[in-house]
Amino acid sequence: MNRRYLRIVTPSNEDFLQDKVALINGLSSDIGASIGEALLANGAYVAGTYFSNRAAVDALRDRYGADRVQAFPCNVMDECYETAIQQVVDQAYAWKRRIDVLVNSLGIITISPFLYETREQRQRVWRINYEANVVFSQQVVRRMLAQGSGDIVNIGSVTGLRGAGHLIAYSTSKSALLVFTYSLAEELGPKNIKVNCISPGVVETKAIDEHYDAVAKELLIKNIPLSRLCLPVDVSNAVLGILMNGYMTANNIVLHGGKL
Ligand SMILES: NC(=O)c1ccc[n+]([C@@H]2O[C@H](COP(=O)([O-])OP(=O)(O)OC[C@H]3O[C@@H](n4cnc5c(N)ncnc54)[C@H](OP(=O)(O)O)[C@@H]3O)[C@@H](O)[C@H]2O)c1
Repeated sequence: MNRRYLRIVTPSNEDFLQDKVALINGLSSDIGASIGEALLANGAYVAGTYFSNRAAVDALRDRYGADRVQAFPCNVMDECYETAIQQVVDQAYAWKRRIDVLVNSLGIITISPFLYETREQRQRVWRINYEANVVFSQQVVRRMLAQGSGDIVNIGSVTGLRGAGHLIAYSTSKSALLVFTYSLAEELGPKNIKVNCISPGVVETKAIDEHYDAVAKELLIKNIPLSRLCLPVDVSNAVLGILMNGYMTANNIVLHGGKL
């Protein structure tokens, strides 16, 4: 395997995110932490949320310093989740008096045959994967409009494009997030706010390890022209690509390894 690209890209204009402030919901996930690391490595301040895995955000803070990383606990399944999100965004904004980048990476997976999918599973997936990300966006867009600029990057999934059996709730929530991306980009383009989506295939993360053993992964890889699963760093490099490109909005970067 060509390992040249299996690391975070640092563009030639190093620190191109110097003094920019990014808010990443789901910073504690493997993908969220990789995106956080990519932004920090390029000079940004990173604020983010965790739910149960404080250790993941502490690791980032230990590495880059408490002056560069802020972490907030957040449970979007709470009845008062909109207020909880508003408080997180208020605190993140109060830190440097701006938010330049919002990465909506909150998302959980539920695997179930359609007939066994419960209302509770559906509501949980839709709340975390779609509604919470929309509320985060509303709160942050208020600040971006006042600043006159901003970037929103949503983390979707290839299942949001092509659907996937046993993943009905998950794939439909990601599909909604993609159409949300296109719609918001059209509305906010004239305000100098870019909105894009990244739709990866299966990414090597702890969440995936819970559902796929080595044999199942090999079967998946057999159908991928690049002969490997996506890595968190592939997703974070795509985030950097979006942030570097001032003319990219209403786009969806599909990381499928060669075949949808
Ligand atoms: N892994 C893949 O194959 C893959 C493929 C395509 C897209 N994605 C997307 O990439 C993103 C990250 O994926 P991942 O695999 O790294 O995810 P993950 O490990 O399952 O992460 C889930 C994230 O959601 C947070 N969370 C869970 N319940 C929450 C709640 N009630 N309130 C607030 N936050 C809550 C978790 O916080 P704690 O960890 O602190 O509990 C964690 O940060 C998701 O949007 C996912 O759909 C993943």
